[in-house]
Amino acid sequence: MCGIVGYIGKRQATPILISGLRRLEYRGYDSAGVAVHNGESSRVVRCCGKLSNLEQKLALEPVPGMLGIGHTRWATHGKPSDENAHPHKAGGVSVVHNGIIENHVALRNELEEEGVTFSSDTDTEIFAHLIHREMRGGAEALARGVQQVLRKVQGAYAIVVMDDADPSTLVAAKSASPLVIGLGDGENYVASDVTAILDETRDMIFVEEQELATVRPSGVHITDLDGNPVERAPRRINWSVVQAEKQGYRHFMQKEIFEQPRAVADTLAGRLDRERGDVKLDGIDLDVRSIRRVVFVACGTSYHASLIGKFLVESLARIPTEVDLASEFRYRDPLIGSGDLVIGISQSGETADTMAAMKMAREKGATLLAVSNVLESSIPRMADHAFYTHAGPEIGVASTKAFVTQLASLVLIAAYLGRRSGALDRGRGDELLGELAELPKKMSDVIEHSAQLQVIARRYGGAKGFLFLGRGNQYPIALEGALKLKEISYIHAEGYAAGEMKHGPIALIDETMPVIVIAPRGAHYEKVISNLTEVRARDGKIVAIATRGDTEIGSAADEVVMVPTAAPEILPLLTALPLQLLAYYVAVSKGTDIDQPRNLAKSVTVE
Ligand code: M6R
Repeated sequence: MCGIVGYIGKRQATPILISGLRRLEYRGYDSAGVAVHNGESSRVVRCCGKLSNLEQKLALEPVPGMLGIGHTRWATHGKPSDENAHPHKAGGVSVVHNGIIENHVALRNELEEEGVTFSSDTDTEIFAHLIHREMRGGAEALARGVQQVLRKVQGAYAIVVMDDADPSTLVAAKSASPLVIGLGDGENYVASDVTAILDETRDMIFVEEQELATVRPSGVHITDLDGNPVERAPRRINWSVVQAEKQGYRHFMQKEIFEQPRAVADTLAGRLDRERGDVKLDGIDLDVRSIRRVVFVACGTSYHASLIGKFLVESLARIPTEVDLASEFRYRDPLIGSGDLVIGISQSGETADTMAAMKMAREKGATLLAVSNVLESSIPRMADHAFYTHAGPEIGVASTKAFVTQLASLVLIAAYLGRRSGALDRGRGDELLGELAELPKKMSDVIEHSAQLQVIARRYGGAKGFLFLGRGNQYPIALEGALKLKEISYIHAEGYAAGEMKHGPIALIDETMPVIVIAPRGAHYEKVISNLTEVRARDGKIVAIATRGDTEIGSAADEVVMVPTAAPEILPLLTALPLQLLAYYVAVSKGTDIDQPRNLAKSVTVE
C-alpha cells in the first residue's frame, strides 16, 4: 500500500531515497518522509501531501548522510498529516512500515501504561517505541531488538529500521508485505518494490515471509525471526520500470485481480474478535437499536456492492434496508429522516452523485456512514462515521479489488449491526468470522485456476453479446460481471435476475449467445438450474459458476468453473472472481486499453 526505500553506502542517501520514492508515486500517496543519518545522529524530515512538498522542505533543510530510509504513505491508521507521515522515531530508532499491525491497540495501551507518549495516530509508531525499549533494555544489536519486537506483533508488515547508535546498519523484515534488497558495490538498498531501486541495481534478493535482513555497505545477512541464517542467491531483474510497477503483470487490472486475497486480508486485519463472535470497527460507534432503516447510496460497482449489502444487513441484522443509485436518490425527494442510517459506498470517496446524495440525507436528518478506500477523501470526511476498506490504491479504471473489499467490509458492517441489534448471536457471529478468516485462502484457490477462464475467454470472446444470470445475492454479481465485461472489452452484456429471464431477455438467446450462470449450491440452486435448462433448450452456450463437489451441473452446462464452498454471505466474494478474470481475458484477446478503457475515468467527480 505504501512505499519504502532504504539506502546504506558511500553516496548521499537523500537523492537516492527521493528518486526511489518518485518511482513509487504510481501507488498513490498522501504524505512522505525521510530519515537520514550523518554518522553521528539522524534527522527526520516529513510532510503531508505530494512528494514535491517533501522535496521543497528538503531544499530548505537538507539532510546530509550516507544512510537513510524513506516512505510514501497511503494512510490506513491515522489521517494524512505531518505527524502521521513516516518515518516515526523513538529515541534514536527510526522506522518506516508498510502494512497493518492487528494488535496495535493492545500494544499501544501497554506502552502508554509504561509512560510512553505517542506523537501520531499510526500503528507504525508502536514499532519505533518497542524497538527503542528493546535497545534501551540492552539488546546487543539492532537486528536482535527488531527480532524481539516482531515476536509481539501480529499483522502485516515490511519494515526498515535504523538506529542512531549504529550508523553502519539497516535492519529490514517482512511478513505479508513485499520487501526486496538491492545489491551494489560497497552500497546496498532496501525497497518495498523493485521499481524503487531499478535505476540503481538489477541484482536483488527477495526477502521471504518471517525473515529479517541486516544490511550493511559491505553485504547482507538474512535470518529467520529466531536468528537462524538463511541462504538466498540474488536474482538478476531484467524488467523495465513499467513492467516492475505492474510487478510483472501485464496490466494493473490483472495485478489487482491477483492481489485480492491480500487486499481482503488487509480489510479484515484487526477487525475480527473471535472471542466475542463480534467485529471491532474503529471509529464507528452507532446506536444500532435506534436505527429504523438502512439506505445504501452508491454508483457503478459500489452500487452493486450495496445491493449485496442489503442482503447482508437484512439477514444478519434484520434491519429493513433499501438501495438506491446515488444519481436517482438525489433527485427524487426521498422519504428519509432521523432513524435512517445512510451508508454511502465509494472507492474513491469523491464521486459527485454519492456525495450529493449523502449531503441531502444529512440535511433531512439521517446518520451517515461512509465506506471508502481513500482515507480522508471527501465522502468519509463528510460522514458521521467512516469505514475504510484498506484495499490499497486501485489504478485500473475497472474496479476489482475495491469491489471485493467492499463486500468484505459489508459482511463486517452487517455483523456489527447484527450483534448490536440482537439478531446475530455470538455462535453464528463466530461461525461467520471463521468463514471470513478462511476467505483469502479460498480466493487464492479460485485465482490459481485462472487458466480455465483464459480458455473460456478465447472460446466465447468473439460473441456479440453476453448474458449474466444470478439469483439472490448472486444477482448483483451477475450485474457486476456484465459491467466488467462492458467496461473493458466493449462487448454488450446484460446482468439479469435469473427469474426475470422469461420476462424478456430469453428472446435474445440462440446458439451465438454465451450465458454466464452463477449457480452455487444453496437456497436458489434448483431454480437456477431450471433457468439454465431453459437457456439450453434455446441452444444458448452456458458457462456455469458452481461450487466444488457439484456433480450434477456438468451435464447441464457447456463449461463449469468451480469455486470453493462457503457460507451464503461469503460466496459472492468467490463467484465475483471468475467473472473479473473472464472480462479481463476477453479484453486481452480483443487488445483493448484495459487499464484506461475509452470514455471512462477512475473518479467521477462531476455529475
Ligand atoms: O469511486 P466510486 O466507488 O464512488 O466509483 C463509482 C463508479 O464510478 C465506479 O464503481 C465505476 O463504475 C467503475 N468504473 C467500475 O469498474
